[in-house]
Amino acid sequence: MTDPASPDRAEPWYLLGAGNMGLLAAHYLRRAGFTVIVLRRDATPRLDRTLILPDGEAVLLHLDCQPIVRAGLARERERSSRQDPRALSDDSTSSVSGIPPAGSAGLSRAGPAPATTTTIRRLVVASKAPFSAAALAGVPLAADATVLRLQNGLGSLDGRLPDGARMIEVVSASAVKRDGDTHRVVAENDTWMGENAAGGPPAWFSALSAHWPKLHWPDDFRHRQWRKLVGNAVINPLTGLHDVANGRIFQDPTLAAEAEALSREADRVLTSLDPTWPGDSLAGVRALADATAGNTSSMRADMQAGAVTEIDAINGWLLRQAEALDIDLPSHRRIIAAVKARHP
Ligand SMILES: NC(=O)c1ccc[n+]([C@@H]2O[C@H](COP(=O)([O-])OP(=O)(O)OC[C@H]3O[C@@H](n4cnc5c(N)ncnc54)[C@H](OP(=O)(O)O)[C@@H]3O)[C@@H](O)[C@H]2O)c1
Repeated sequence: MTDPASPDRAEPWYLLGAGNMGLLAAHYLRRAGFTVIVLRRDATPRLDRTLILPDGEAVLLHLDCQPIVRAGLARERERSSRQDPRALSDDSTSSVSGIPPAGSAGLSRAGPAPATTTTIRRLVVASKAPFSAAALAGVPLAADATVLRLQNGLGSLDGRLPDGARMIEVVSASAVKRDGDTHRVVAENDTWMGENAAGGPPAWFSALSAHWPKLHWPDDFRHRQWRKLVGNAVINPLTGLHDVANGRIFQDPTLAAEAEALSREADRVLTSLDPTWPGDSLAGVRALADATAGNTSSMRADMQAGAVTEIDAINGWLLRQAEALDIDLPSHRRIIAAVKARHP
């Protein structure tokens, strides 16, 4: 039995979404001594990526992968083999870690990676929010799995995890950009972890925080998460719709007025949810826009690329909370409709 005080490095972390943020998390987890396995929709056995750290160091990431596309089939096979031991071929026995050895499931060692048959107890979800359901489909999560949700917005995994799962939210002010197979960490800022339930961090947290710069488990996690949410809810759709850098918002009187309306509406709903919410979002949004003046927001980048945006998890979350409280958020309603009209 695992000592609850130990970080239990034998239990691997599985990664859904090996993009910018997922790879950064994978790098820190590996630095802390954890094994990271990428879950993929294809049968690529290994992912080779380069992560450029802010000091210019190039980290070569070679990550083992397991496909999830056939996970359902694999579980079916496992179930039938439990019912009839003759159906269990010699090479399909799981290794000590529960991960099928290379060459199992009839695949050669040099061939594609075997599908995930193991029950996943630790998962990082770092796909973009709108792809959460697709990404999780077929992932064999343990009933008591720990899931790190490394996504902007809120609510994207609600109702998608087993009832007994522990979901830990990850809010990061770091920024990573992709250029082909290279991912550049353009800013290594604070990252906060926390959860809805009261209680302290899990046993592995201190081991991880020793290797993940500026990683915190703050007492006021929810307010930090909401501050990030409001920043995203104001800056992202405005910069996306008007195709401008972040700093432009408060230089343009029309955009500044929209930013003020969006901030005030967000404060209204957040104060109704939690009377201790300070309700001073506009100042924070302005400071963020100034501090990142030259940056392109992720929503602007998505809209430029014609990709689906995360507006449903950001402004949409605020709107859903407001509707439940019978509060109208006309500015958020309008901006959601405008973004979706461009990129449904
Ligand atoms: N980048 C940043 O600086 C930053 C900062 C803070 C927060 N965030 C948040 O972090 C989240 C991830 O952003 P990102 O920039 O890392 O995005 P990203 O680079 O686009 O990475 C997302 C990854 O998810 C994968 N994916 C998509 N659908 C999947 C599926 N069905 N199954 C498995 N994997 C799937 C994609 O794989 P393919 O490439 O194969 O499609 C891609 O590798 C977002 O919510 C974002 O808002 C990002």
